Amino acid sequence: MKAVIPAAGLGTRFLPATKAQPKEMLPVFNKPTIQYVVEEAVASGIDDILIITGKGKRSIEDHFDRSFELEYFLKSCGKDEDLKEIKSISEIDADIYYVRQKKQKGLGDAILCAEKHIDGDPFAVLLGDTITQSDVPCTKQLMDVFGKYQSSTIAIEQVSEGKIERYGIIKGSEITDSVYKIDDMVEKPNIDEAPSNLAITGRYVLVPEIFDYLEKVQPGVGGEIQLTDAMRSMMRSDEGRFHDVYGYLFNGRIYDIGNTVEWLKSSIEIALKDENVKDELTEYLKELLKQRI
Ligand code: G1P
Repeated sequence: MKAVIPAAGLGTRFLPATKAQPKEMLPVFNKPTIQYVVEEAVASGIDDILIITGKGKRSIEDHFDRSFELEYFLKSCGKDEDLKEIKSISEIDADIYYVRQKKQKGLGDAILCAEKHIDGDPFAVLLGDTITQSDVPCTKQLMDVFGKYQSSTIAIEQVSEGKIERYGIIKGSEITDSVYKIDDMVEKPNIDEAPSNLAITGRYVLVPEIFDYLEKVQPGVGGEIQLTDAMRSMMRSDEGRFHDVYGYLFNGRIYDIGNTVEWLKSSIEIALKDENVKDELTEYLKELLKQRI
């Protein structure tokens, strides 16, 4: 299976940090966000990744490219560990391709840019500004559910009322452990119109028929071509069983990096798992909390 990583958005929720750098390159602890996303795809067994970029996103390509100058420098200083790490990024176990979205027309339009590359097969979508943490990678979990139902499957999570307006929200019923049959979905509803508190969280495995619907769908919330709207019309057409969409209640942690507080939490929680810094950071957090309570 191939993966598509949309990374073309302007990052307006994170200004001014994203004025001159892509939000996907913001570090989470010690790595740029998009590196976690690519690593999740690779850990899920995917070896062909298409990143949808746009204007001002060149540093993403540079990050996954070789840097001979840096490698030479690290070698000459005897920084072997750093050298190994830097080389491992450009030697990641997947072919990475890039295509540019020419105009900011929304997530649905960004995914439409992948149609030629996907070439008629089911594919995974991993939003470039969303990180997941779990023993079995989120995308692999979705691929397993897809394998069982042969239908588009998207990750969902329960969110608090205050967050509902930020997400696509589904209406559906649980048919088996953590798997929901989706009846409807709506992009960024008002709290009183939301059909549930189950949010679409940025990981999808989709049938290629989605492209037909993305081509036809009209601009939705924010005047943008919304993936949620295209999935909704795909689900509602009568053209066959492949058009069902399932939700999978992801068992793990999800961080929406476009949100500043979530971004901070992600760095802290991931750093707390790192042997080199966890003790110092824990002490600091304890002290800080003591002073604030
Ligand atoms: C996108 C999707 C939305 C989903 C969200 C997850 O919205 O359109 O359905 O819930 O990602 O992060 P965005 O965050 O790009 O506005």
